Amino acid sequence: MAKIIDGKKIAASIRSDCKIRVEKLKDESGVTPGLAVILIGEDPASSVYVRNKIEACKAVGIKSSSYRHDADITTDELVVLIEKLNIDPEVHGILVQLPLPPHIDMERVLETISIDKDVDGFHLYNVGGLVVGKMVFSPCTPYGVVKMLESENIPVEGQNVVIVGASNIVGKPMALMLMARDATVSICHAKTRDLAQFTILADILVVAAGVPNLIIPQMVKTGAVVIDVGINRLPNGSLQGDVDFEGVSKKASYITPVPGGVGPMTVTMLLVNTIEAAERHAVQK
Ligand code: GUN
Repeated sequence: MAKIIDGKKIAASIRSDCKIRVEKLKDESGVTPGLAVILIGEDPASSVYVRNKIEACKAVGIKSSSYRHDADITTDELVVLIEKLNIDPEVHGILVQLPLPPHIDMERVLETISIDKDVDGFHLYNVGGLVVGKMVFSPCTPYGVVKMLESENIPVEGQNVVIVGASNIVGKPMALMLMARDATVSICHAKTRDLAQFTILADILVVAAGVPNLIIPQMVKTGAVVIDVGINRLPNGSLQGDVDFEGVSKKASYITPVPGGVGPMTVTMLLVNTIEAAERHAVQK
């Protein structure tokens, strides 16, 4: 039976470090880390994620401010809001919750965020930095996965890593971060033929496809480490990952549950990035 990687527990331990860092920063430089969260429209999942982020900030002493706008806001209006936040000395991190309504020019919005405040790591500078190892901030979900592997002392160097899902938010940055740690990385996606032919080779399998129960035991090598990034809400309201947890946990050496796996780590790494942004700001003051 696989060991369950308890994301809640790892997140709680990092969050208690966050609290200490925030207190130290306040004491030593009078700076309170500030995060601005922008939510456009009424997407129910986004509303839940934003609420979680704001509550997590509060719990560690980060001052969050939220900006909610109707879905009919224009790209220009959103750009003006971000430009204001870019020069606000009390705001150290800016997060625009995705997805944005289709009429908004997402690339222009993300490119407007100051790279020093881009705590999601979605600005082109940070994306490019991931390629050459010079980013300011790592994207929160893959960063959280790296921290989970570290926390369990799971080696990455020389391992076969297979990532299912090639999104800009998870799959692509995940691949780059694990390549930077000398893994041999394959990326699969919706058009990949015979997915199992790849997944069966994985020492570490990271699944971020958004398809419930996509990964079944026959697709997993005995002893593999299986990281499930999927969060799918089923019609009965329950949450389900991309991995058949029951079946695969009999074959894997480590597995992450949903909920309680990668989810709490994503929010935690946002806190870490925000505190880091504030610490850098305090040094420059
Ligand atoms: N939507 C889904 N995941 C994320 C994330 O990590 N950051 C933001 N801003 N939006 C998201």
